[in-house]
Amino acid sequence: MSTPKDSRPLSPASLVVSAGRPAVTPDGELNPSISLNSTFHAPNAGGAGYGRYGNETWSALEEAISALEGGRTLLFGSGMAAISAVFNMLPHGAVITASKNGYSGTMSLLKKLESDGRVDVRYVDVSNTSEVLDSLPGTVLLWLESPTNPALEVADLPTIITAAKKLNCGVGVDNTFATALNQQPLAMGADISMNSVTKFLAGHSDVLLGSLSTSDGALFTRLEDQRKLGGAIAGPFEAWLALRGIRTLAIRLKQSQENALEIATRLSKHPKVSKVRYPGLPSDPHHATAKKFMKGFGAVLSFEIAGSAGDADKVCSASKLISQATSLGGVESLWERRHRWSAESPSIPENLIRLSVGIEDVEDLWADIDSALGYY
Ligand SMILES: Cc1ncc(COP(=O)(O)O)c(C=O)c1O
Repeated sequence: MSTPKDSRPLSPASLVVSAGRPAVTPDGELNPSISLNSTFHAPNAGGAGYGRYGNETWSALEEAISALEGGRTLLFGSGMAAISAVFNMLPHGAVITASKNGYSGTMSLLKKLESDGRVDVRYVDVSNTSEVLDSLPGTVLLWLESPTNPALEVADLPTIITAAKKLNCGVGVDNTFATALNQQPLAMGADISMNSVTKFLAGHSDVLLGSLSTSDGALFTRLEDQRKLGGAIAGPFEAWLALRGIRTLAIRLKQSQENALEIATRLSKHPKVSKVRYPGLPSDPHHATAKKFMKGFGAVLSFEIAGSAGDADKVCSASKLISQATSLGGVESLWERRHRWSAESPSIPENLIRLSVGIEDVEDLWADIDSALGYY
């Protein structure tokens, strides 16, 4: 990626298109190729050397993610692999402060590390700033998922990160729901910004990948060692697909967010819906916090129907356009009742449906939702 001298800095929408391209040479490639190599010629030690240590296709995607997040980025085989690399780095007995309502995979991992006696975890409501600040003394790592999945709570990131850094706590932010187009944790002072690249960055529900970005050189090296030794690396084809996907991130997210706000607004007036959670709604309890620092509110919303868990299942099964599937952040809309998975947190209502809003025509989506709500 190059910005001509004296020109204005590129905006994020341009950065995702231009970053991670090969150097310009006559007849050279416009796109990086898929580097299918487990090893490389190595007449001298140095360089990647071996496929678990580095790969050109990873580097291209890492450059594109870094262009958005700031810092430098390491790609992993999944979002959970990236999170595990961070948690595995902590010393035995370290205290982690984390959201009590985070992504069920992260919650299960924290519970496992706790029950193995590896770490102590303080669970907090991340949207309650004083509760988070009170938990900081003695915390080694503050892990902030914001907005949370699927409760859609928003942490006051600038305030909390500043306070945590004053106390020398390590701070990691799971940026999956917002993406760096909407919030930049590293610029706010966080040590790590993590993404499940599987979701919005890749955007097509066809790969699993994760990333960690950091501006701290020493931390980058420690995380890279975790990747080399943990071995939870990405496949080059997956990296290439995600690079292709990230090129359209800005336009996909814009469309999905517009759709999400419209659907959240209509759902909040629907007689069969008792509660809508979407930080973009002015009536949402997290809207004021989100508005302070988020550029957009993402494209995932949750709602509770005025009925039972069984009714919510009927609604999700009745859609024709929206697929009943887990995951989020793709071009296609997906929904599901979260509690059909036993790992979901008990604090999430049984009748809560999470909807990842895609880029389809909003009227088609609404017609599908409205008709599905008629099935109970
Ligand atoms: C907020 C959040 N973080 C992390 C993950 C884990 O990512 P992956 O499925 O890529 O391992 C998910 C997956 O749904 C998620 O929603």
